[in-house]
Amino acid sequence: MKKNAVKVWVVCLLAVGGLMACGTQEIRTGSLSVIPLPQEVVETPSAAPFVINSSTTICYEEGNEKLASTARLLADYIREVTGTEVKTATKAGKNSIVLRTDPSIGHKEGYELNVTADAVTLTGATEAGVFYGCQTIHKALPITGGKALASLPAGEVKDFPQYNYRGFMIDVGRHFFSKEYLKKLIDVMALHNINYFHWHLTEDQGWRIEIKKYPKLTEIGSYRKATMIAWGSDEDDGTPVSGYYTQEDAKEIVAYAAERFITVIPEIDMPGHMLAALASYPELGCTGGPYETAIRFGVFKEVLCGGNPKTLQFAKDVVNELMDIFPDAPYIHIGGDECPKAEWEKCPKCQAKIKELGLRDTKEHSKENQLQVYFMSEVQKEIAKRGKKMLAWDEILEGNPNPETTTVMAWTSAGASVKAARLGHHTIVCPISHLYFSNPGYNRLKGISSMERVYTFEPQSEKLTLEEKKNIIGVQGCIWTEWTKDSLKMEWQMMPRIAALSELQWGNPAKKDLGGFLKRLRHQLDLYGVHSCHYKEDIEDVTISVSPKGQDGAAVVELSTFDNAPVYYTLDGSEPTDQSQLYTEPFTINQTATIKARAIRNGRASNIAEETLTYNLATMRPITLQCEPDERYTYQGADLLVNGLEGNDNYRSGRYIGIYGQDFDATVDLQEAKEISSVSLGTYLVPGDYIFGLSGLEIYGSNDGSTYNKIASKTIPVLEKGSKNNVLKRDTISFDKVQARYVRIVGKKTPELPKWHPGAGKQAYLFLDEIAID
Ligand code: ACM
Ligand code: ZN
Repeated sequence: MKKNAVKVWVVCLLAVGGLMACGTQEIRTGSLSVIPLPQEVVETPSAAPFVINSSTTICYEEGNEKLASTARLLADYIREVTGTEVKTATKAGKNSIVLRTDPSIGHKEGYELNVTADAVTLTGATEAGVFYGCQTIHKALPITGGKALASLPAGEVKDFPQYNYRGFMIDVGRHFFSKEYLKKLIDVMALHNINYFHWHLTEDQGWRIEIKKYPKLTEIGSYRKATMIAWGSDEDDGTPVSGYYTQEDAKEIVAYAAERFITVIPEIDMPGHMLAALASYPELGCTGGPYETAIRFGVFKEVLCGGNPKTLQFAKDVVNELMDIFPDAPYIHIGGDECPKAEWEKCPKCQAKIKELGLRDTKEHSKENQLQVYFMSEVQKEIAKRGKKMLAWDEILEGNPNPETTTVMAWTSAGASVKAARLGHHTIVCPISHLYFSNPGYNRLKGISSMERVYTFEPQSEKLTLEEKKNIIGVQGCIWTEWTKDSLKMEWQMMPRIAALSELQWGNPAKKDLGGFLKRLRHQLDLYGVHSCHYKEDIEDVTISVSPKGQDGAAVVELSTFDNAPVYYTLDGSEPTDQSQLYTEPFTINQTATIKARAIRNGRASNIAEETLTYNLATMRPITLQCEPDERYTYQGADLLVNGLEGNDNYRSGRYIGIYGQDFDATVDLQEAKEISSVSLGTYLVPGDYIFGLSGLEIYGSNDGSTYNKIASKTIPVLEKGSKNNVLKRDTISFDKVQARYVRIVGKKTPELPKWHPGAGKQAYLFLDEIAID
C-alpha cells in the first residue's frame, strides 16, 4: 500500500540560530486517495513528495478574507495531524501551499490540486472549492503527530461533487446538545465535505430556539420533566431535560458553519410534533389544552390547529424570526411529517376552514391532508417573500403540493424519493431504511455490514428516467435523538457511517467500490482518533464467515477484517491472544466448534468475535428453496439455513432469510440415506414489524429426490395479542425413526395478520434461520 509509506530522505534543517544542520529524518508520505474519493487522482510515487516543515507557508490571495480563514483552518489541520506549525501569508515563498481561485474550473465547488516537491497549488472555482481541496490535503497527510516529517505525494487531483446538497441532520429536540458540541459535529461534517447542516430545532419533547415574539416557547417548551426509559415502557427516568439556543447562539453556529462552507438549514416541525409549543401556547391547539411537553416518544394526536388564523400567524412569525437568524439559508424546513388528523376531523375551526377553502375528500387525499398542504403553502408564501424555499418531509405529497415551490425530503422509504422526483419536486434522499443513523435495528448491524448498508445504497433509483433523476438534488444522513443522550452515542452513530455517506454525496457513482472504500477507511478512522471522535469500534472486529465446502459436509471458515489486520484465533473456547494461531488462510471444520478471533493492530486488540458452529445432519448439506425470499432479505440465500450458525437478535443482519406472504418450503439433501427422528426450524418474531411465526410444520422424506412421503406434520398457534418483539423461537417436530436422503420442510405461514394487529388482514413476514435435522 502506498499510504503512509515510510521513505527516508536526506533533508537539511535550519537549526535555531541560523546554523544549517544536515541529517536524516524520517519522512512519511500520505495518499491523495481520500474519503470521499476525488473524481480524478494521479499520484507519481517516483517523484519526490512535498514535505511539510516549519518553513512551510500557506499563501492566499491578499484581501480575500474567506481564503485567509481557510488558510488558518488548514494550518490547524496540519498541526493536529502532523504536529508541525506552519505559517499563513499572502506572499508565496519556497515550500508554499498556494490557495487561489479560478472561476474557469467548471463546478462551483470544484478544485484542482497539484503537488510537486517544491509547491502545492490548490485552485478552487470558488473559495468553497479551495476549502474542499484543503480537506483533501487534511486527509491526505500521514498522521505523524510530530514523530516524523509528513509529506504529500507528488501528483494531481481534479475534483467536484456529485450532489449540490450534501446534508446531515441532527435532532436537538429530543435531547439537547450544547453549542460547543455542535461545533465539533460541524467539524466532522466538514471533514466529509458536507455542505448543509439540517438543524431539527423543535419537537414534542422540546423547543430549542429562542423566538422573541413568543418567549414562552423556550421558557416553558424547552423543558420536560422526564423521559420514558424504553420503547413500550410506561416508566420514565424522573430526570428533567432542558436547554435551548439563544438567537445569538444560533448566529454563532451559523458563522462557525459558514467558515467551513456549511449552510445551516433550520427546521421548525409543524403542524405535528408541536406539543412543546402547545404546552407554551395552548390556544394554538384545536382543543385549547391543557398540554404538556412530551416525556414519551412517538406520534401524538395533539397538533397545531389548522383552522385557527392565530396559528397561521404564529407559524409565519416564527419563520420570519428564523429568516433573520439564518439569512443565508436557501431553505427553511417546516416539517410536515407525522401529523395525525383526528383532532382536525372534529375541530369546528379546522372544519370551517376546510369548508371556506372548498376542500373535498378525493380518492388520493383527504380534505384534512389538503388543509395541511394549504397551511404549509401559506407559510411557504411567507418564506418565498424573502427569496427562500420551503423544505418539507415527504408526507407533504399526501395533499398535492406545488412542485415549483416544495422541495421534498424523502424519508419514509426509497420509494418516496421516486414518487417525489416523478412528481417534479426537487428531492433530497434520506430514507429511514439506509440513512437514519439512529435507527436501532440498523445500529445493531456490526462491522462491515453496517458500512455496506450505507455504501451500497443508490440515491438515484433505477426506476427513474434520466430526466427524473435530475430532480434528486441531494442526499442526507439523519440522527434522531430519542435514544441519543450523549456525545459517545452521537459519535458512534455518525462515524464511520458518515464516511460511506460522503461517498454517496460527493463521489462518482461509477467508481463505487466497497473494497477500495474499506482500504481508505483505515486512515479515516485514525483521523477520527486525532480529532478525539469516537467511532463504532466494531468495524475493527474480525468477521467470521462460514460456507459449505461441498460433498463431505465440511465448513470453510474465513476470518477477515476490513483492513487486513493480523488475526489470531482459537477453536477450543479459549481467549485468543497474540500467542494463538495466526490466521493465514481459510480452514475447514467438520464438527461442532467455537471459533474465537480477534485482530491485533500494533498491540491494540479488537473485541473478540465469536461464532459457535453447531453440526446436525443438515449442516453444510445442499439445500434448495421452493419459496422465494424477499429481495431485501435474501442475503446469501438458502445456504445460511444450514451453515451451522444460529440466527441472532437482528432480523436484518443477514443471519435470517425473510419471506413475505408465502409458506417456507425447502429441501435438504443429506447426501446419503440417514435415520432421522426430528426436524426443527428457528424463526424470529417481531409482531410490531409484521413478522410472525409458523402456523404449522410438514415434513416429507424421499430417497430418490422425486417421490416424497409425508413423515409428520403439526399445527402451531398464531401469536397472541401482547406477544413480545424480538424473540427467537425454535419449532420442533419429532417422529418415529425413518430413513431418508432428501428431507422437504414446509413451514406454514401465519395465514394473515390477526384482528388484534394494526395490519389486520394483511400478509405477514416469516424470518427463518437454521434448520436442524437429527
Ligand atoms: C421523520 O423521521 N419523522 C421525519
Ligand atoms: Zn383545529
